[in-house]
Amino acid sequence: MENALLALEHVSKTFDIGKGKTLEAVKDVSLQVFPGKSLGIVGESGCGKSTIARMITGLIPVSEGSITLNGKKISGLKGRDQREVYRDIQMVFQDPYSAISPRMPVGTFLEEGLVYFGIMNRAQAGEEADRLLRMVDLDPVLKERLPHQLSGGQLQRVVIARAISIHPRLVILDEATSALDVSVQKQILHLLVRLQKEFRLTYLFIGHDLAVVRSICDRICVMKAGRVMEQLPAEDLEKNAVHPYTRQLLGAVFSVRDI
Ligand SMILES: Nc1ncnc2c1ncn2[C@@H]1O[C@H](COP(=O)(O)OP(=O)(O)O)[C@@H](O)[C@H]1O
Ligand SMILES: [Mg+2]
Repeated sequence: MENALLALEHVSKTFDIGKGKTLEAVKDVSLQVFPGKSLGIVGESGCGKSTIARMITGLIPVSEGSITLNGKKISGLKGRDQREVYRDIQMVFQDPYSAISPRMPVGTFLEEGLVYFGIMNRAQAGEEADRLLRMVDLDPVLKERLPHQLSGGQLQRVVIARAISIHPRLVILDEATSALDVSVQKQILHLLVRLQKEFRLTYLFIGHDLAVVRSICDRICVMKAGRVMEQLPAEDLEKNAVHPYTRQLLGAVFSVRDI
């Protein structure tokens, strides 16, 4: 089997919440993400999913354990070394409007990363922005528009295009479709699947909705209260889920349909 692209080993995060009190947001989490695959992290709000994402990208330090990318330890990096990791790991969040400055045209946003990381000059990046927009099924005329002149679904496509424009090794999607209407959410999930096949992308897909997470992932990591309950293939979840909490999440999916 291929080596893991991303590996967390016994990672914990304890926050200081004042008056000598602490909160254990993530407890002894170990997981692996393989190249060209997608691992889903699912669990209720507050179970520590975003904290894991923030430790992977170095936004916050780990309290214990280690994180490696391609076999190289990335937890505990500082300065320039850490900035290089940011290039290899791109994140897409729930709200696309908070990812772009409200006064920045969409085209400039797409060019920025390419120029900043020295992948191409401004003129080349301008043309690349057209290609990137087409890649996510948007019309290049949108380049001149400001973020608020696009719908949430359109803007999330732009954010996804920008994330993969600089050829990251790993794309972390943290509730990336959670704020979208169900029909738009489906379109974005289809887009993500297509892009993954086309470019052999590696995803860490985080969400609270098991139905959504399993629709795009090969493997699922079920979390509760900072801990991993179980990890299992996304296929045949009904058959393979052992942990009662996973069964509860599966049940939650069906109860929605029953209403
Ligand atoms: N900077 C912080 N300081 C203190 N507590 C935090 C901080 N960030 C997150 N938490 C707490 O850690 C827990 C996990 O949060 P989070 O990772 O955002 O959960 P999720 O993304 O699964 O909804 C929550 O109880 C949250 O309140
Ligand atoms: Mg979160």
